Order: sequence, then C-alpha cells, then structure tokens
Amino acid sequence: MHIQVGIIGAGPAGLLLARMLHLQGISSVVLESRSRPYVESRIRAGLLEQGSVDLLTETGMADRLYKEAMVHEGIELVFDGQRHRIDITALTGRKVYIYGQQEVVKDMIVANLAAGVPILFEAQASEISGLEGERATIRYTHEGKEEVLTCDYIAGCDGFHGICRDAIPPQLMRGHDRIYPFGWLGILADAPPTRDELLYCRHDNGFALFTMRSPTVSRCYIQVPPDEDAENWSDDQIWSELETRLGKHEGLTISTGKITQKSVTAMRSYVAEPMRHGRLFLAGDSAHIVPPTGAKGMNLAISDIYVLSKALVAFYKKNDASLFETYGATCLRRIWRAQHFSWWMTSMLHNLPDASPFDAKRQVAELYTIATSKAGQTLLAENYVGLPFET
Ligand code: APR
Ligand code: PHB
Repeated sequence: MHIQVGIIGAGPAGLLLARMLHLQGISSVVLESRSRPYVESRIRAGLLEQGSVDLLTETGMADRLYKEAMVHEGIELVFDGQRHRIDITALTGRKVYIYGQQEVVKDMIVANLAAGVPILFEAQASEISGLEGERATIRYTHEGKEEVLTCDYIAGCDGFHGICRDAIPPQLMRGHDRIYPFGWLGILADAPPTRDELLYCRHDNGFALFTMRSPTVSRCYIQVPPDEDAENWSDDQIWSELETRLGKHEGLTISTGKITQKSVTAMRSYVAEPMRHGRLFLAGDSAHIVPPTGAKGMNLAISDIYVLSKALVAFYKKNDASLFETYGATCLRRIWRAQHFSWWMTSMLHNLPDASPFDAKRQVAELYTIATSKAGQTLLAENYVGLPFET
C-alpha cells in the first residue's frame, strides 16, 4: 500500500497530524503499537495552553473539551510559608485548560475514525527505510502479519522510546540531555481539589504540585528520589507528605480521599537535533522531552505538528518544499525556549540532593523576585500560557 504520509504513533502528535492532513485532503495512515483502550487510559499530564486549545478548536476536536475542561486564569506559587498568586490572564490576556491528555487522545481518535482516517492499533513499526531515496518504507506487524507501507513522508510521532529517532544516522544526530536527580510520585485521588487553581510548592522536603482533573478528582505530585518505587508510599504517607509540604501556608487545609492511581516518573530534559532527515520528520516526544514542571510536553507536541502540517500542506497544495528545510529550525526555537522555561521552573522549585543552605536561601529569594515583581510574574505567565506558534 502507498500513502502520502505514514504516521508512527497515536499520541497527541500523530493523531493531530492525521486530522490536520485529512482536513486538507492529504492521505495518511497512523500505526500505533498499543491497543486503543491502552492509549485511551494512559495517565499523563493534563494542561493545555491557550494556543493548543485554539488549534484543537480550529480542527474541530474541542467540543467535549469546552464542556469538561477546567479553565484556569492563574496559578499559585507556595513557598516560605506564603502563597503568591500569578494572575496569568490579567498579565497575558490568555488562559490555560486542565484536560487530561488521554481525553485529548480520545477526542482525536474519534474525530479521525469518524472521518475515515485509518488508525491501526496494535501495529508495531519495526523498521523505516528509504529516507534518502524516492520513497520511504515502514515495516510493521499487524494482527500477526508482517506488512510494508510505502509513503512519500514519514512522521515519527512515536514518543521517546520509539524507533524513528534512531533511524537518523548517528553521525548526523546530536542528543542534548539532562537527567535530574529526582522524580515525581504522581497520584490521582477521589478528592475535590484543595484549591480551584494549581499550587506549585517549594519546601525543604522537596517540591509538591496540586492539580486536578475534575471538581471531584485531584492530581497531586511530590518530588521523590528518581528510582523510588511508588509502592513504598502508603496512602497515609502520601497525604501526610503533601500536608507537610503545603501545610502552614496561610491556613490551607488539603483535601484528601481515596488514591486510585500512583506512579513515579523520572525527570529529564532532552532535545534531538536535527528533527528531519530526508523523508522523515520527528515530532513531539520522539524529538524532545521536558520535565513536567512547566507543563509543556503535550503543548510542544501540538506546536511541532502545527509547523509540520503547514510544511506538508505547502508541499502538496503548492508544490513548495521550502518549509521542509526550515521545519527543524522553526520548531527548535520554540522547543529550546520551552526547555529553558521547564528547566527554570524545575530548578526554582525542587531540592537538589546536594543543595547547601546557601542554595535553599537563594532559591527562596528567586521565588520572591518573581512573585513580588510584575515583570517577574509576567515573564513566568507568558511562558506558562505558551509562546506563539510560528511557521
Ligand atoms: N510503532 C508504533 N507505535 C509506536 C512505536 C512503534 N514502534 N513506538 C512507540 N509508539 C507509540 C506509543 O505507543 C505511543 O502511543 O507512539 C505513541 C507516542 O505517543 P506519546 O508518547 O503520547 O508522544 P507524543 O504524541 O509526542 O505526545 C507527547 O506525551 O509523554 C507525553 O509528556 C508527553 O505530553 C507529552 C506527550
Ligand atoms: C497535571 O495536571 O497533570 C499537570 C499540570 C501542570 C504541570 C504538570 C502536570 O506543571
């Protein structure tokens, strides 16, 4: 079978690309190694920038989001026994939306399948080739059979552990990596959110984040050692640690409830350059990952696809291949700024295992600098709400 664009991976990146190409009459097939129930229930982050929501709206995939998402106009920084609100909407005119990534994925799957865009679940791509030739080839296994798909272009939307990044010759590829000496223990709990906005807390015991999924479900994270086993933490210990890190902040009492899910995520910053090799384009987590402190992972996947879809549409509609040449550089400008923001938020709010008392005091001073200055708050707000999409 020959198709215009072969897409590997049915995460937010691959599914959004399939939708955007379909709306322009460009054919694609999405190959996804996991089952549909698996990708629809995988718990990931859940904060969408205004620009991401605008793109989901333009592509007709935001109906349920507008009914169910929680719209946020600010966040609170909690440190040194105090709470400081950053009024994101007053500072930027924009908002952010809490809506779980798996809900975004469900909406994208429904929209694509309803339009007849093929998504093959349990289709594992094993090899891609022909990237420098006349056409590209994807070998994959589906329903126990070895299959071959040829395409004009391949979108490598297969996440951090996929196969596409490794198909770029190693002598051309440079990976920029930073591994943090801590992880996040994340929980979902049947507990109403402690506050109606997100709380980012710095404490001498480590970082804590209070976020949410609905008026009855809280999502909370605490900084733990990177190799921590979530099973080492009883529910009581988790609530007690959240209470310690957040407690005593101007009378806040945390709301507790039954913990329904818990897992530990390692924290890493990574950028692959280049993002294109011949007929292959990397997008989303296959090309970069960020620590979740800045809530940028899903939003970067969406902004990459905005740039890639424009390049593919220019080629197929106007026979203009110039945007292929600039794809990587355009994405990477925004990616590096999001990398910086994610690193900055992470370094400002987490305890390094070897931090000295000087480091702790400096960190608190930095938080005061940001929280008490309009310029500081604006810098944080502009980055948090998301930089403009470019092409
Ligand atoms: N063949 C087919 N599918 C594959 C293969 C393969 N060889 N390898 C990986 N995949 C699939 C994975 O199962 C996954 O569903 O590719 C998909 C990649 O999706 P995501 O990991 O969600 O990546 P992306 O679409 O770039 O979205 C980035 O995900 O991890 C979060 O924080 C991250 O929010 C960000 C978002
Ligand atoms: C989430 O809701 O899961 C979330 C929100 C903000 C973050 C990270 C995770 O910075």
